[in-house]
Amino acid sequence: MRKIIIASDHGAVSLKDQIISFLKTKNCDVKDMGVNSEDPVDYPDIAVLACNEFKKGRYDFGILLCGTGIGVSITANKVKGIRCALVHDLFTAEMAKAHNDANFIAFGGRVKYQVPVAKMIEKFMETKFAGDRHIRRVNKIMDMEN
Ligand code: RB5
Repeated sequence: MRKIIIASDHGAVSLKDQIISFLKTKNCDVKDMGVNSEDPVDYPDIAVLACNEFKKGRYDFGILLCGTGIGVSITANKVKGIRCALVHDLFTAEMAKAHNDANFIAFGGRVKYQVPVAKMIEKFMETKFAGDRHIRRVNKIMDMEN
């Protein structure tokens, strides 16, 4: 069973609920880090909370949401060990895993996507890291943390 962590600011609460329902149909173990209200919160707080829990909890990957997906992804990519991809279609969903071995993907609750977010998550989940030359490239990113 896949273990997935998800968190959102106030800009994507309903998208978070839709994603959780979808993940449950895929028999995933989903850890919901909130928020569950549209009262404003600061997206960096939410992203850091989820990234820190991810690092403790043996999760397969995480999903971060805000109005655009941009704020949470910028924040997450400053947390050691996190590679968060801002996905916007099936191609970027696939590449986020195949080439970047992303451990978080981000979406925006206020973005009008051409493809349902659930389909993009499904694509990410069914894709394997391509390895080979991409290992070297991902390692170069991670080396920047040292
Ligand atoms: C909140 O209004 C909004 O700025 C936030 O959800 C996100 O879109 C930031 O990147």
